[in-house]
Amino acid sequence: MESISIAIDGPAAAGKSTVAKQIAKKLGIIYVDTGAMYRALTYQALLDNINLEDEKAVMEMLKKIDIRLAQHEEGQHVFINEKDVTEAIRYPDVTASVSVIAKHPLVRKEMVTAQQELAQDHSVVMDGRDIGSHVLPNADVKIFLVASVTERAKRRFEENKQKGIPADLHTLEKEIEKRDELDSTREASPLVQADDAIELDTTSLSIEEVTEKILGICQPFI
Ligand code: C5P
Repeated sequence: MESISIAIDGPAAAGKSTVAKQIAKKLGIIYVDTGAMYRALTYQALLDNINLEDEKAVMEMLKKIDIRLAQHEEGQHVFINEKDVTEAIRYPDVTASVSVIAKHPLVRKEMVTAQQELAQDHSVVMDGRDIGSHVLPNADVKIFLVASVTERAKRRFEENKQKGIPADLHTLEKEIEKRDELDSTREASPLVQADDAIELDTTSLSIEEVTEKILGICQPFI
């Protein structure tokens, strides 16, 4: 297989990471969950009591830590320095604040550079909000996953239940709507569908069906 880059974007809880993981496994390529990087930053900022609105303070913190994504059989692990924060970054306090950190242009610049380095010289499937539009504008395949907010909240509810993360369906729906609003309206690389991205509505599709559809779209490149 030649090298391939696949960008998967879309609103919160649209199934991006689940599908991206499956595709990475099937194609034997690297999976990069870019949301995890913004989440890791948020986790550390909350721990250090940093004002998330203060871009300068966030940048100072960012320079002192090392965020590392490690490939594991069952998915990606996230480390801050040597600490494994894979599970901690999924907790509601981080989820509720991550869009505040992600709106800062200087923070995004650092993250985007790191993401582009991860994709250099590798076949990769990367998921996020600005992958097709900013991080990998020349990606071979660009997918924009959407699903109704009710369906997305339901999926996140089940996912959280399995992970033992406390969740309430109505609160999740509100949180998802709020995060989409913040992510879509920020000035620095907002959540948008790239002009050349293919939109897939996954509301009534299973993970397997979505994965198969995307693999079909990737076929000319593999
Ligand atoms: O994908 P996930 O829901 O884990 O992303 C968490 C948050 O990180 C998003 O709501 C968004 O604020 C931010 N993010 C981003 N750009 C990306 C990936 C995530 O701004 N490429």
